[in-house]
Amino acid sequence: LVETYIKHLQSKKIFQKGIFITFEGGEGSGKSTQIKLLSKLLTEQNISHVLTREPGGTEIGEQIRKILLQGNIDKLDSYSEFLCFAASRREHLKKIILPALNKNKIVICDRFLDSSYVYQGMVGGLKREIITKIHDDFCFKKYPDLTILLNVNPKVGLERKNKTTLIENRFENFKNEFHELVQTKFLELANINSHRYRVINADNEKNFIFNEIIEQIKHFFILNKNE
Ligand code: TYD
Repeated sequence: LVETYIKHLQSKKIFQKGIFITFEGGEGSGKSTQIKLLSKLLTEQNISHVLTREPGGTEIGEQIRKILLQGNIDKLDSYSEFLCFAASRREHLKKIILPALNKNKIVICDRFLDSSYVYQGMVGGLKREIITKIHDDFCFKKYPDLTILLNVNPKVGLERKNKTTLIENRFENFKNEFHELVQTKFLELANINSHRYRVINADNEKNFIFNEIIEQIKHFFILNKNE
């Protein structure tokens, strides 16, 4: 069982500084639903963990979130957007993520740096090296141990999203081609970083997806157990 592996790894201190798991995916991929299910499972098993999200996670982060996610599409370009995301991420790491990892907790984060690589970088035109440089200089060179990519067909994802009325719809308002590009680029990024990525088909029903996630997490921990 996944809980047993996690406890085993924590007790062996294989992950010396906690375990940092991020979830990525396009609009409506169901990340937040799946993260809640995972958190419920961990709580039931008394496994101490922290649930957080980007942009956001801190008071400043939530304020930056409002700037980024509300309002007109063209109010910021990709470069200014990235600087806002990076500022929010630095505070998030300093105040929430790193302290929790140092206490050997599992941190589960809804989106992280890879969203910047895709949205502001591969789609928005900001160079990969610049994103990496700023991340390494200002965001403590912190990369996830494991990233779960919920790969959703953009049409399915946008339909799911349209069922809810959103104030935070700045990114959803981009055209369909944008969302298709986001999906392709996430898959590209997952290929480049295959050591820490697990890709899940997120077009399915939520319990089915959750089982897949658990399977993948389990495999990931089995592999790392022997390191
Ligand atoms: P959110 O409402 O959390 O969307 P979702 O439920 O799809 O995660 O909004 C986050 C939006 O911010 C999402 O469209 C992606 C975007 N984003 C970036 O463009 N760059 C980033 O670095 C991050 C963290 C998010």
